[in-house]
Amino acid sequence: MGKVVVVGITGASGIIYGRRIAEEIGKSAEVRLIISKTAREIARHEAVDLDGLRAIPYRNEDLGAIISSGSFRHDGMVIAPCSMKTLAGIAHGYAETLVTRAADVTLKERRRCILLLREMPLSRIHLQNMLAAHDAGATVMVASPAFYHRPRTIEQLVDMVVARVLDHLEIPHDLPVRWGGYDA
Ligand SMILES: Cc1cc2nc3c(=O)[nH]c(=O)nc-3n(C[C@H](O)[C@H](O)[C@H](O)COP(=O)(O)O)c2cc1C
Repeated sequence: MGKVVVVGITGASGIIYGRRIAEEIGKSAEVRLIISKTAREIARHEAVDLDGLRAIPYRNEDLGAIISSGSFRHDGMVIAPCSMKTLAGIAHGYAETLVTRAADVTLKERRRCILLLREMPLSRIHLQNMLAAHDAGATVMVASPAFYHRPRTIEQLVDMVVARVLDHLEIPHDLPVRWGGYDA
């Protein structure tokens, strides 16, 4: 059986990260997708199309969904972008949405849980919540692309981050974004 990955897209800037991650994972694994209400609003604002993804969709209000149970087996969860509000919910076990509940059970079942955050500057509250999420087993990543592959387009910049997320989920990809040493 192939891999199953839960993908959450929440209300932070950079919805394109969520779209590209869901798209790339969907090429080789089953995607269970939750998009928050604010994420949809921001997607419209940022002109990112969230339709047409190869994924099984869930409503963020649907706390009875199968993915809200630890008995649902999957190979990891990623939230991209992850808002500071959703981070706070996860850090404090305040699981009032499907995204936060699915992340809560992912952590308690000790599965891979990746949070791709986007905010700046970061307050003490944000930093403390990041540490709490890290200590609970989450992998805290930031939407901070490297530049050593000399990106020329927004897509190339975004894919730098997408590739790092896929690596952490052990999802194969052929995005051309690996550091090959100074001689490469
Ligand atoms: C246009 C817009 C951009 C936003 N950008 C961010 C952001 O980059 N990071 C963040 O943490 N919150 C951001 N927010 C605030 C969150 O969307 C807000 O806290 C919301 O309640 C998050 O809900 P959700 O995590 O359930 O999607 C933004 C809101 C709007 C309307």
